[in-house]
Parts: sequence; C-alpha cells; structure tokens
Amino acid sequence: MKLGRRAVIKAGLGMGASMLLPPIDLFAQAQPLIQKKIPSSGEIIPIIGIGTARRYEDVKSDAEKVPLRETIRQFQSLGGKVIDSSPSYGTAEPVVGELVDGLKVRDSLFLATKVSLRKDGREEGIRQIEESFKRYRTNKIDLIAVHNLRDTDTQLALLREMKQAGRIRYVGITTSFPKQYGEFEQVMKKEALDFIQVDYALDNRETDKRIIPLAGDRGMAVMINLPFGRGRLFKAVQGKSLPEWAKEFDCESWAQFFLKYLVSHAAVTCAIPGMAQAKYVVDNLGAARGRLPDAPTRRKMEQFIEGV
Ligand SMILES: NC(=O)c1ccc[n+]([C@@H]2O[C@H](COP(=O)([O-])OP(=O)(O)OC[C@H]3O[C@@H](n4cnc5c(N)ncnc54)[C@H](OP(=O)(O)O)[C@@H]3O)[C@@H](O)[C@H]2O)c1
Repeated sequence: MKLGRRAVIKAGLGMGASMLLPPIDLFAQAQPLIQKKIPSSGEIIPIIGIGTARRYEDVKSDAEKVPLRETIRQFQSLGGKVIDSSPSYGTAEPVVGELVDGLKVRDSLFLATKVSLRKDGREEGIRQIEESFKRYRTNKIDLIAVHNLRDTDTQLALLREMKQAGRIRYVGITTSFPKQYGEFEQVMKKEALDFIQVDYALDNRETDKRIIPLAGDRGMAVMINLPFGRGRLFKAVQGKSLPEWAKEFDCESWAQFFLKYLVSHAAVTCAIPGMAQAKYVVDNLGAARGRLPDAPTRRKMEQFIEGV
C-alpha cells in the first residue's frame, strides 16, 4: 500500500506524541540523505554528522546517557554515519563507544577521532591512539586527525603507519584557531591528507578564503567544525522568522539554513554540528535532504546574516 504525504505525516504525528518527541515528517524522512565523496577514496558519506564536544564531555551517570543514546539511535536509523570526537573531550569517546556498542550499530557508522596530546612524542601518540580504540570499542577507526596541529609531523607519520597496517582508514588534521591558519595551509601544501577539519559558519567565513578552496585543489575531504559557532548563530536570529526564500531550497528551520549554507559549498564534504538531543538530529539531518542553495542564494544568505 502506498501512503500519501498527509497520511504519512499523520502517522509521524502519532508516533511523535507517543515517544514525547516533536512530530516527525516521515514523508520528508523517506528521502535519502545527500552524500558526498571523500576525494582520496571515492567513498561517500552523508553531509551531516554529529560533533561530541561539550555535551558528551562530562557524563557522570547512566541517566545522562539516555538522551545521548536516543540521539545516536535516531541518527543511525535516519541514515547518519559520521560521529566525531577526541580524547580531549572528557567522557565523549567512551560514552560514544558504549552507546554504539550497545545499539550494535558500529558497522554502519563512520567513527572519527583525533590524536590530541599535551606532551609531544611518538610514544605519547601510540598510547593515546590505543586508548581510543578501547574507548570506541572497535578494532578499526575510520578517521584520526591531528588535533590543532599538535606535534603534527610525528603524529602524522604514526597515523600513516597505522593506516598502512589497516587499523585506521583515513588521516587528517584539524583546527578552529585563526592564528593556526597559516601553519595549517603549509601542512596542507606539504602533506597528502585524506581529511581536513576546520571551523566555518555563515557568520565566520575566513577559512573559505584560502583553506577550504586549497583542500578542493589538493583533493582533501573537508569536515566543518563549529557550524553554528557554538550556538552563536541561533542567538543572532532569535525572535526572527526564516525568510520566505528559504523555501526555495527546502529549508524549514534556522539550523537547516545555517547547515545548508555550509554543505552547499562544493569543497565541503560534511559538517558536524554538536547534537545531544534526538530533536536536533531530526532537524539537522533535514539539511541533508532536498535542494541546496545555489551560488547566488549563498550570497543572499551571507548578506542576510550581515544584516541581522
Ligand atoms: N579543533 C577541532 O578539532 C575542533 C574544535 C571545535 C569543535 N570541533 C568539533 O566540532 C563539533 C561542533 O562544535 P560545537 O558542538 O562546539 O558547536 P556547534 O556545532 O557550532 O554548536 C552546537 C550547539 O548548537 C545547538 N544546536 C545543535 N543543533 C541545533 C538545532 N537543530 N536547533 C537549535 N540548536 C541546535 C546545541 O546547543 P545546546 O546543546 O546548548 O542546545 C549545540 O550544543 C564539536 O562537537 C567537535 O566535534 C573540533
């Protein structure tokens, strides 16, 4: 039996009420998530992932894990794959590892983390990376990136050995600090990297001047951190309605407005908004469906945010 849009939405409303979640438009959710290619392999991944800084960092009880489990369950069931963490995010890695293991969804996910050292050195790197395997409860990590360019040469060499040995699938580097952009570019020019991860948001477009286009030229996948500027963008539009023209690219919320701007960039592979609530998953994955803004619309979005 084929259900029409109205019937499917009604079913979603019923289900939403019973699960005490906001109404879910199952019709919209039946659409596949947009995916993009990782240039170094041709593998495709959905353009929206989960960031685990802050909200997963300080989990002290099983009760605090309940909404996080529901977040990951919902994310995976809607086709999401990429989850990003770091050993420096407190409880984030072990909590993600435990929940993913409990839900038995490891194989359908793309687990990313970082080597994030306080003390330089190959032995320090090995020790931390081995811990990440244990905390994530997996024998293969999809991506490990050097966090904030700490001890880059030594750690990249180590990550490449691990990639060669088949324990890691991709390697990369990350930053979110403007003062590191110059050095970041130099590493990108010198090294063959599968991924870079940088900050980029509708109101923070500095990395689009050189770093993101350079990644496009060098065949590196681009993962975007701080896509909402840690929530700053939501504050900027507080009390404001979405512009009418947002409908032209199937945008139904501010979160989708901010995310669709980023993932419509040709060189951007995915964005990893911090998500610790199932309702955010439903909303943010909506940015990976339907139309994306074209170049003139992206300019209009920039002008819009400059005017608020
Ligand atoms: N150098 C690096 O490698 C580096 C640096 C920074 C970040 N990162 C990565 O980037 C990820 C993202 O950064 P972030 O989490 O700090 O900041 P963010 O993604 O810019 O903002 C996340 C916040 O936005 C709010 N939010 C999310 N979805 C929403 C929705 N649909 N509607 C309304 N509000 C929504 C949530 O606030 P509430 O939870 O308060 O409701 C959430 O905590 C991190 O988790 C981390 O994985 C990496």
